[in-house]
Amino acid sequence: YSKIGIIGAMAEEIELLHKQVEVASEFTKAGITYYEGTFHGKTVIFCKSGVGKVNAAVCTQLLLDAGASCVLFTGVAGALDPSLNIGDIVVSTSCVQHDMDVTPLGFAKGVIPFHPNSDFQADSQLVQLAFEASERLFPGRSLKGKVLSGDQFIASRETVEMLHQTLGGACAEMEGAAVAQVCDMNNIPFVVIRSMSDKADGSAHVNFAEFTVEASTNSFRIIDEIVKHM
Ligand code: ADE
Repeated sequence: YSKIGIIGAMAEEIELLHKQVEVASEFTKAGITYYEGTFHGKTVIFCKSGVGKVNAAVCTQLLLDAGASCVLFTGVAGALDPSLNIGDIVVSTSCVQHDMDVTPLGFAKGVIPFHPNSDFQADSQLVQLAFEASERLFPGRSLKGKVLSGDQFIASRETVEMLHQTLGGACAEMEGAAVAQVCDMNNIPFVVIRSMSDKADGSAHVNFAEFTVEASTNSFRIIDEIVKHM
């Protein structure tokens, strides 16, 4: 990859990257600052997306316009798969926007009408790289699965069950599928890596507050390990 794009959802991750990457230049557009530099001998460009699908979409398109030839997205998520615990890692096989709902017109939940596809496939080589990196750092704590994104913080058992059963999601977050769609529209390979900060249930807000800093440190370590092996 000529230029590795890295998007973090949280300030903590971007700060950690900022400390490790030798930054050569930066620019700001649409309120987002992009840093370019060298990391483990590779050219990288990284930024913080902000929360939600619109921020993530704008951020990703600008990252690609700046020449990123692949995209790694990291952050935290709420676990949907009952086998996942807080601190575990999900590597995206694909991403779906779970709040895309045009069911009254006969489209299945999550389907974007008149768009070529709605279940955006992550790049299998990046998935493997990310999964192996995650397993080296946190053995037995990584899962490859479907990442569901929506402009909602999920915090109820009923929603968790619905999202897991009807859409087959491993975890829920608020950006991945927007990044995925923009990459897909531009024919650029991507992978989403999420560490579980909560189980998207009634305790999610408490767990999220407690585990987000640790989870973002883990996300940074995985990115570090992936880029080392790219
Ligand atoms: N990110 C972390 N936890 C989440 C949750 N429960 N819902 C949506 N996004 C999240």
